[in-house]
Amino acid sequence: MNSSEFYEFISKRSSVREFTSAGVSDEEIEFIIKCAVTAPSAGNRESWDVVIVTDEGIKEDLSDAAFGQEHLISAPVILAVCTNYVRSMSQYGERGILYSMEDASIACTYMMLAAHSAGLHSCWTGAFDDETVGEILDLPQHARPVALLAVGRGRESHQKTGRMPVLEHIHNETW
Ligand SMILES: Cc1cc2nc3c(=O)[nH]c(=O)nc-3n(C[C@H](O)[C@H](O)[C@H](O)COP(=O)(O)O)c2cc1C
Repeated sequence: MNSSEFYEFISKRSSVREFTSAGVSDEEIEFIIKCAVTAPSAGNRESWDVVIVTDEGIKEDLSDAAFGQEHLISAPVILAVCTNYVRSMSQYGERGILYSMEDASIACTYMMLAAHSAGLHSCWTGAFDDETVGEILDLPQHARPVALLAVGRGRESHQKTGRMPVLEHIHNETW
């Protein structure tokens, strides 16, 4: 893939919040997670984990914990990407908290792009009550949920969102 193809590939991804009832196969889920494992991580500690959720009842509970976001019910699978603070803090102490959130975010980004490459759609969902999600998924203390990635097949063609001009992000030499 050359750089133009890469740009075209990433530009074509967008968040999808309406899914068909078609499922996501175990092979597709495996592929997505296999791709996430290739992500960089601080000190190569891979301080993230993922909970795969397909159970309708758990998805409904997650939707409630995410203030009623319905795509968490209609998506056939939710990948709950979490920190694993033990792996990072055992090496980096307090700094490991930040690293673990970064590791989980990068892993989730890879998952989102892997899903896109497989012709699937997704929506990164970050608005939820951490404590309630922790209870629903029986997360240990060292696992903070970072993202609930809804994955499935989009119901219809989705609208592209706009972006700020590139230059608004750039500061030269100093801010
Ligand atoms: C950290 C983060 C949190 C997000 N949380 C939500 C969310 O709770 N619900 C939602 O529908 N979309 C959520 N999104 C998706 C964004 O709304 C979306 O990425 C943004 O509007 C740009 O659109 P695009 O993904 O289609 O390019 C989140 C995205 C990120 C990166």
